[in-house]
Amino acid sequence: MDQAAGESRKIPLHAPEDYEGMRRAGRLAAECLDMITPFVRPGVTTGELDQRCHDFMLAHGAVPATLGYRGYTKSSCISINHVVCHGIPGDRTLAEGDILNIDVTPLLDGWHGDTSRMYVAGTPSTKARVLMDVTYEALMRGIAAVRPGATLGDVGFAIQSYVEKNRFSVVRDFCGHGIGRKFHAAPNVLHFGRPGEGPVLRPGMFFTIEPMVNAGRPEVKVLDDGWTAVTRDRSLSAQFEHMVGVTETGCEVFTFSPAGLHKPPYAA
Ligand code: MF3
Ligand code: CO
Ligand code: CO
Repeated sequence: MDQAAGESRKIPLHAPEDYEGMRRAGRLAAECLDMITPFVRPGVTTGELDQRCHDFMLAHGAVPATLGYRGYTKSSCISINHVVCHGIPGDRTLAEGDILNIDVTPLLDGWHGDTSRMYVAGTPSTKARVLMDVTYEALMRGIAAVRPGATLGDVGFAIQSYVEKNRFSVVRDFCGHGIGRKFHAAPNVLHFGRPGEGPVLRPGMFFTIEPMVNAGRPEVKVLDDGWTAVTRDRSLSAQFEHMVGVTETGCEVFTFSPAGLHKPPYAA
């Protein structure tokens, strides 16, 4: 979500029984991303991929939370190459070597699942592969920092320091978000920060971590369609997103791939 939206809101604390709703919604979101994997290849349109995600969510008793969300009319976001996030599926045909993020958000029995992964049409350039690897590892380091008593600044620092050590940049204009019965709730989860700063994490908090990492400069701009965010310098961008719940000892990731398809390359 965009970073300007609501600071200073109370961070909801969820009950133990709420975790089961999030497990089910998160698993369905991850299964949708598993399902779409073999269809991502040169020649397919992003509109076809979106339709498959749409049909999958409905077939499993969920509704795509993006449909009608602030005027958005698609069931997924598909962001190719220099598109940072919120790419709108349509007539665009994937070409050999394109890298893309697919982000889905099924609403299942009142709970939101939200996850995204990178995919490749064919074989990526070395630069693209390294960018995707670094972005995935940055997300995992952010997740590893989540535990009661830690702060969101610890999470942001874990992500930012790893990304910058690898000479890529973290997008500042979009952040992760609280999630649950609401799609976008408190807190804002920044993917940069300083240790010890920001809200203290407590068991019962549900939020996404979804770093966007650019090969070049961090600045983005939103196109005239009002959604598509691109890198200003047209450098490649990558993103992975997981949804976590803080537990007594650390966190539970609700959106791991049941098929083990964590990051490209995915076995054929
Ligand atoms: N799934 C995105 C997120 O991670 C939000 C997409 S909102 C849309 O927060 F309207 F662009 F679909
Ligand atoms: Co999200
Ligand atoms: Co998302």
